[in-house]
Amino acid sequence: MSKSIDKESVEDLMMSAREAAESAYCPYSKYPVGAALLGVDGEVYTGCNVENVSYGLSMCAERTAVFNAVGNGCRRFIAMALAGGKDKAATPCGACRQVLSEFCDATMPVFYADLAEGEIQEATMGELLPLAFKKK
Ligand code: THU
Repeated sequence: MSKSIDKESVEDLMMSAREAAESAYCPYSKYPVGAALLGVDGEVYTGCNVENVSYGLSMCAERTAVFNAVGNGCRRFIAMALAGGKDKAATPCGACRQVLSEFCDATMPVFYADLAEGEIQEATMGELLPLAFKKK
């Protein structure tokens, strides 16, 4: 069961995601993305997309955030905020959904919005990745 998150904390988490997008290294796509995961330890773990001239080696913001959190000892999360896009808000790609599903309950909310002042939308992990691959 996921812990819940209040509206003000959602806005703070989205601010962290939008700030993280400012660190994005995306000279090829010119599409910055930032992610912020709120851990059950109360810490916020951020990530941005990091591209490479060998394009397939590029890494998304969400996976950077997950690896940052896990590398710092946090494996369970209350919510994630994702900021990307100018007019249309980015949503997590399929690969990131699978990686997130390793550590996040199906009920965990994912908040997503554009990089500016756009409205914050919400979906659960279960809605984003129904029938996620799990061994048990
Ligand atoms: N990107 C992310 O960081 N997260 C997503 O969920 C979608 C795509 C990045 C990858 C690439 O650096 C850029 O956005 C354009 O696809």
